[in-house]
Amino acid sequence: MRTIEQVGMRALRSVDPEVSHTLAIKALQMGVANAPGEITSSRLRTNVAGLDLPNPIGIAAGFDKNATALKGLSVSGFGFIEVGAATPRAQPGNPKPRLFRLMEDQAAINRFGFNNDGMEPIAARLANRPKQGVFGLNLGANKDSDDRAADFAKVLAHCGAHLDFATVNVSSPNTEKLRDLQGKAALSALLAGVMQTRDGLDRKIPIFLKIAPDLTDQELAEIAEVAVQSGVDAVIATNTTLSRDGLKDPQQSEAGGLSGKPLFEKSTRVLARLSQLTEGKMPLIGVGGVTSAETAYAKICAGASAVQVYTALVFGGFSLGEDIVRGLDTLLERDGFANVDDAVGTKSGDWL
Ligand code: FNR
Repeated sequence: MRTIEQVGMRALRSVDPEVSHTLAIKALQMGVANAPGEITSSRLRTNVAGLDLPNPIGIAAGFDKNATALKGLSVSGFGFIEVGAATPRAQPGNPKPRLFRLMEDQAAINRFGFNNDGMEPIAARLANRPKQGVFGLNLGANKDSDDRAADFAKVLAHCGAHLDFATVNVSSPNTEKLRDLQGKAALSALLAGVMQTRDGLDRKIPIFLKIAPDLTDQELAEIAEVAVQSGVDAVIATNTTLSRDGLKDPQQSEAGGLSGKPLFEKSTRVLARLSQLTEGKMPLIGVGGVTSAETAYAKICAGASAVQVYTALVFGGFSLGEDIVRGLDTLLERDGFANVDDAVGTKSGDWL
């Protein structure tokens, strides 16, 4: 972490976590966050589901929920950026406090509940996105919607023209019953609607499906089957967990989804299992508890073609992204891999 950033991070950690997050977004808007520009090399450059990525390390959904920091993010060194979740109509989310830092565990618990400005202002911001950068949108459903499954297609239809990819997020634990949409029949129907909408866009962007880490083996197998059958372009594993195993911090009893370091093992096991179930038929994106180049590399070796990060940035600062990307290049070189693809899934058996 850079010295100036260390001072800033100390100050940020002393304020309420949600205020601190707003300040981090402000720093990106004002151009005072780490801004190395594009980081790439022949080893790092990769193609995932048709997306040409300068490197395989992305920012996960929920960081820039309203797409208000696109310019700062486009020069932050990350290979791809997922904004949102966006729902058709604006909604306030759950009452505050709803974000907790578990310092002792290097983790966070959030129960935001899809607070966002709604698809219209978010689409307008995406329409003015910077030329540089790969941008996707996390699609969500309104809490009070009559037809939640239809909400995903609605947001895609409205924002799709400005996106490089979109993610169907049926795995957030903070909207009651949302995860029920991960069931076989419900998911099949929902994805059919989304894929039909995608096929109607002028530019056929890839659609990703993001899943929860708290699924039984059978549920995971069914999801893998539905994902392949529906023609989804990639699966993102995983969202936050409801588990509280192995935590020390007293705030562990807060309700919501747990992210950060303690999620690493669980989400990587799901990723490896999914890699086995889909037999290389579709790319996987690994997310959950990545804190370093080593843990990002471990996700790739477990079966991920690309990786996303969020919570570690709260503890390590925004420059951690740059460190992970550069460190990954060194690790690939050390192990004799000519590119990311060659390393994908080479150690998935270690996680099964
Ligand atoms: C999230 N995450 C998330 N995921 C998603 O699909 N849509 C969303 O709107 C959000 N919102 C959100 C808010 C906050 C405050 C956090 C911490 C997380 C989940 C996120 O994208 C990621 O899947 C998990 O956080 C696991 O990765 P990390 O944080 O352990 O790197």
